[in-house]
Amino acid sequence: MTDASDQRSNQKKPDPCSFVIFGVTGDLTHRLVIPSLYNLEATGLLPDKFCVVGVARKGMSNDDLRESLMKGLRQHATRPVEDAVAKRLLECVTSVEADPKDPASFDAMRERLEKLEANRSTGGNRLFYLATPPNAFAPIGRELGRTGLLKEANGAWRRLVIEKPFGTDLASAKQLNGELLKIVDEHQIYRIDHYLGKETVQNILVLRFANGMFEPIWNRNHIDHVQITVDEKLGVGHRGSFYDSTGALRDMVPNHLFQLLSLVAMEPPIRFDAHSVRSEKADVLAAIQPQSEAEALKNSVRGQYLGGKIGDTEIGDYCKTEDVKPDSTIETYAALKLTIDNWRWAGVPFYLRTGKALGIKRTEVAIKFKQAPFAMFSCTPVDRLSQNYLIISIEPTEGITLQFNTKVPGPTINIDGVEMKFRYKDYFKAEPATGYETLIYDCMIGDNILFQRADSVEAGWQAVQPFLDAWKKAGPRGLQNYKAGSEGPAEAEELLKRDGRSWRKLG
Ligand code: BG6
Repeated sequence: MTDASDQRSNQKKPDPCSFVIFGVTGDLTHRLVIPSLYNLEATGLLPDKFCVVGVARKGMSNDDLRESLMKGLRQHATRPVEDAVAKRLLECVTSVEADPKDPASFDAMRERLEKLEANRSTGGNRLFYLATPPNAFAPIGRELGRTGLLKEANGAWRRLVIEKPFGTDLASAKQLNGELLKIVDEHQIYRIDHYLGKETVQNILVLRFANGMFEPIWNRNHIDHVQITVDEKLGVGHRGSFYDSTGALRDMVPNHLFQLLSLVAMEPPIRFDAHSVRSEKADVLAAIQPQSEAEALKNSVRGQYLGGKIGDTEIGDYCKTEDVKPDSTIETYAALKLTIDNWRWAGVPFYLRTGKALGIKRTEVAIKFKQAPFAMFSCTPVDRLSQNYLIISIEPTEGITLQFNTKVPGPTINIDGVEMKFRYKDYFKAEPATGYETLIYDCMIGDNILFQRADSVEAGWQAVQPFLDAWKKAGPRGLQNYKAGSEGPAEAEELLKRDGRSWRKLG
């Protein structure tokens, strides 16, 4: 078994820098950003000269901020918290007040930051992490631009890290890209999609391109179709207000599911570098065929959950969730059929599905290979062959499974489907992590391979826009219901059945 932490200790330390967090009092900072910084500190991967500047609209004392972050760390840390490590990290934290509605507060922040940077000898390298609600991205960006805080000068780098959602449709994503690119260059922007922090997602590239046997059959000659599933057990919970203006499609598809799709469907990049990898990913998203309104309705299913039981937990109707409109037509489940019209994929459907309040949690990509000809077995007791799938499991199991047919031992020819399974945990020992460590580390070392480029974000929105438009127009028409704890709306089965296919069964 390989210990993954041994590999980490060979990594280089990032340049000295200040790590400025907007939205420092929020959930994301407490739940993910600080626990990830803690894990990086524990593995010696934070810069020696470093400061964390926590920006909130209403300032608080350094002590209060540190206390609140410590509380969050104790609650969300992925490993036992060592006081000495936590102390080293939290001693670097300074609280600053700034509100984009009050430009003077950004001028004052600039002065504070420059003083801190001089004290800590960070060389002026800065990373601004926007862990805020999305409506704050542009206003904060504008103030950072006006005050020159993002201007790269004298060899110092300046970076802007942005969380999802990046826009709410094609027009708003273009507008946000336009605004930000007036202030910074594309190489300075790090658009986060936390799926790219998952080892198993990054492994798709390695599986495809570091092995000789998959690439020759990774095309329309051998692959029948691809299924991408992100099923969640959790309902909407306390996120009603966000979710009811977002829905399953916007929340999951142009970002997380399209990351999976682009890694599975992209052409081999000429080099493992940010430019080459991101260009191939953007190209494949741009090749997703546009659909008319009628096609979008035909090639999609949307559903909303009704109350039910998930395990032992009772869950109410989506429409009765706090902050959700009682007559909401927002979908909590979406299934789509997409096609990519290029030489590799023409004629191979990509079926995508995602939903909340389902019976099991499962994230996977299933590649279904074409059926072997049956004629040879027609004069035997065999009445059917099992399906050949390659399954890339992302959650809860992390691994890869190959399904194939084998002879059942015995005097007559009998065939059954079997599985060959690789599970990460059997081969590699890794410290539990938040999934953000790699992303944060990469922002600090300036590697944007795992971040979304403007063209990719826009290509993603472009591909889902016909569905957003068609559903908006249709209102409640066509919105299906499904019971919480089920596999989703029955109509999702129909989407594949009419093509003579079926979803891989929940396993
Ligand atoms: C987030 C969505 O981006 O991803 C959530 O806003 C969703 O609604 C989450 O639950 C899923 O992430 P994961 O890593 O649990 O699959």
